[in-house]
This record gives sequence, structure tokens and C-alpha cells, in this order.
Amino acid sequence: MTKAPGKKPHLIAGLDIGTTKVTIVIGTVSPVERSLLPGASANPYVGHELTVDVVGLGSAPSVGIRQGAVVNVEATIEAIQKAREEAELMSGYQISEVWVAVGGSHIKSFDSRGMIAIRNKEVRADDILRVIEAAKAVAVPADREVLHVLPREYKVDEQDGIFDPIGMSGVRLETSVHIVTAGQTFLQNAIKCAEKAGLRVRGMVLQQLASALASVSDDERKLGVTVVDMGGGTCDMLTYVQGSVAHTAVVPVGGQHFTQDVAMGLRTPQASAEKIKRKHGCAIADLVDENETIEVEGVGGRKPRAILRKSLCEVIEPRAEETLHLIQAELERSSLINHLGSGIVLTGGACQLEGLIEMGEFVFEVPVRRGVPDRIGGLTDVVKSPAHATAVGLLIYGLNQDKLRLSNQAVEGGFQDVITDWAQRVKDFFGGAL
Ligand SMILES: Nc1ncnc2c1ncn2[C@@H]1O[C@H](COP(=O)(O)OP(=O)(O)OP(=O)(O)O)[C@@H](O)[C@H]1O
Ligand SMILES: [Mg+2]
Repeated sequence: MTKAPGKKPHLIAGLDIGTTKVTIVIGTVSPVERSLLPGASANPYVGHELTVDVVGLGSAPSVGIRQGAVVNVEATIEAIQKAREEAELMSGYQISEVWVAVGGSHIKSFDSRGMIAIRNKEVRADDILRVIEAAKAVAVPADREVLHVLPREYKVDEQDGIFDPIGMSGVRLETSVHIVTAGQTFLQNAIKCAEKAGLRVRGMVLQQLASALASVSDDERKLGVTVVDMGGGTCDMLTYVQGSVAHTAVVPVGGQHFTQDVAMGLRTPQASAEKIKRKHGCAIADLVDENETIEVEGVGGRKPRAILRKSLCEVIEPRAEETLHLIQAELERSSLINHLGSGIVLTGGACQLEGLIEMGEFVFEVPVRRGVPDRIGGLTDVVKSPAHATAVGLLIYGLNQDKLRLSNQAVEGGFQDVITDWAQRVKDFFGGAL
């Protein structure tokens, strides 16, 4: 597939406004030629392959965010602008719109059900859209907005446990969904910051959903897995059971709490505590050498002093234990711990603490691994830190939405049309640049 020379490719960009840093990732979308043939898939609505490659990353420290919420608009706009400039410079492209991640303690979720009569005695894509709309028809407080309606499974007449009902015969279609809502003011503030930085918001995406898209495989999702994005301010959780999102939750503790403990415990400034934690920290004090010493900066001009590394880890250990137990309690509340065939994936910057995975396996009693954003192509080395999982996941989410957009155009055009006109639709999507 060759592109017309000089033509701008189709871009997708993700903006993650985190508690400690603002990140923008830019990706280019390209089609895989073989799948332009609609006959290549059993289901032409989802048949074509588009892939996204990372081409740019920009990141700036954020001071205007607390636990995922904007508390200083000007500082946040400035950080977004800085991250944007850096990402645009690296990629060589200019962006005008972004998918924005939203997370933090204001996120709430619940389950709901919907039921409709199947129009033509055979389930089609528009029946799926209608039944999801029906499940969405629940009272949500005026100060909250629905962020996602995530279908869990479908039931056609008496047959339940169906994940893809398209093409099935029946008269009644039911679905159970997981609905995620966010505080309106939190959303409005994030949108305002992005727009004031000159970026149109294409949509808001739950932070841990984006992180999960970037760091767990389809197989893990099907077997059941909980993804925990351990950020600066909060640990944002999401559980997949049989491939669908079954639960989301937020634990209001993050890496910044570890840093504060170190600053207090070792009587050192925050910036130095942060550095020491990253370089020498370990969640299990017994894992470090008894005699190893590290240098700690003093406060108020006092001289640096040497301490045992073990003493640092003894400050960190109780916080790590508490955080993992809070996550464990949340898993128990959801009653899904026995459905996690693939265990738990820890991602986000704070999961990089040495010894945390080992402690996690001990606390959760299921397999635990560290999740890096590896489900994408392009400049993978640039984004392979767990701290970039959310921003990378936004590109995957954006790509999936673009695929859906193409499919919906196809649904509107009718089934036959899909077969004859698929290549043209993809071509139009790329502005004729193929
Ligand atoms: N090597 C490391 N060891 C321990 N902690 C680390 C390490 N590297 C980064 N962190 C911690 O990770 C946290 C930042 O993670 P991340 O970048 O995912 O947060 P964020 O997205 O800004 O915050 P949030 O998602 O909560 O809004 C910081 O508290 C930082 O101290
Ligand atoms: Mg984050």
C-alpha cells in the first residue's frame, strides 16, 4: 500500500492528563492491504484491519492536577501545550484533535440491563445499538455523565451467554452492560484545558480502560484479568471477565503517597524523596542487602547523610502493603477474584517499584505481572514504560472507534454495499490518500 507523496496520513492522538505528568502520544493509522477484501472476514462489519503506529511522544510535569482532577487550569493548559509541542516535533505532524483519558475518585460505575424486540427476526448491527440504548436508559444524577456503556453479554430469547449475537435468529434481544459515569465538572474542566490548548476533544475515555487496551492481550481478557493502573494519585482498576469489562473501581492511593512517606520518614525534601524512591526503593525490605548504604539530602540546608537502604525500604513497605490490600479488598467486594484466570496486571508509573510484583503475588495469591504498553507498532521503545500505558491505549481506543465508524457507515449503506464498496469506504476514510 503506497501513500500519495506528501499527503498527511490519518492521525490519532491521545492526551493523558495525569496527576504527575501530562502526556500526548501521536499515532498514524494505516490499513493492512489483505483485509481490504471483505470476504476475508466471517463478519464484514468488523472485517477490515487498520493498525496504528506510534510516531511521537511528548510529556510535561503536571502541577495542576490532584488525584486525576484539574485544580489549576492555567498550569494544566501550559503542560498540555508543552507536551503537544514535544510530540509534534518528534512526529513531524501537527495535531488538532485528541482522545482524552479521564480517571480518579469521581468515577463511578454500575450494571444495567436492556431488552428490545428483534426487528427482522435476525439480529443485525442496528439491533445491538438499540439494545445498548435501552440499557442506557437509567436515571443518572444531573451532575454526572455517562462515559461508557460496556456490553457484557447478550441473551437471544432463552439462550444466554452470547458475546456476538449478529446473525442469530430470535424475537427478543437482551443485554447486560457495565455503565461508567464521571463527574460533569471534572469532565468539563479537562475538556476546557484541552480546548484552550488548541485541541478539539474527540472523546473522553476511562483511564484504566485505555491502559488495559495497551497492556493486556485478548487471551488474557477472555480468561479474566484485573488491570490496575498505579498512577501518582490513584490506583485505577478494571476487571475483564470472559472478554468483557465486568467491574471498575478506584483506590485513592498512588505513588505520591509513597513519596510523601519517604520525605517524612527520612526527613528529606519531596524532590529528593522522589529520586531516592525511584532509584533505591523496594517494596520488600528483606529483599535488599543489610549493609547497603545510600545518601540522603537534608532539609533546610542540612548536610547530606548516609543511611541504610533497608531503612528506606522499611518506610516504603507498609505503604506498599496497605495499597495492595486496598486493591485486594476492592477485588473481594466485586466477587470476581475467582474469575481471574490470567491473574492481575499492574501498570502505571508506580508499578515500577522494585519488589511490588513479588509482594502482589503474595497478597493476591494469583499470578501478577507488570504491564507495559506493547500492543502497538511504531516507536515502541519510546513508549514502553508502564507510565505511558494510558496514552498509548488512547490510540488503540481511537483506532477502534474509527473502525466502528467505518462499520456504521457500512450498516447505513446496507449489507450488500459492504461487500462491493468496502475498499472505497476505507479509501474515503483516508481522504483518498491510498
Ligand atoms: N521506578 C519507580 N519506582 C517507584 N515509583 C515510580 C517509579 N517511576 C515512577 N514512579 C512513580 O509513579 C508515579 C507516576 O505514575 P504515572 O505517571 O502513571 O502517574 P499519573 O498518570 O501522572 O497519575 P494518575 O494516573 O494517578 O493521575 C509517581 O508517583 C512516581 O513516583
Ligand atoms: Mg495515569
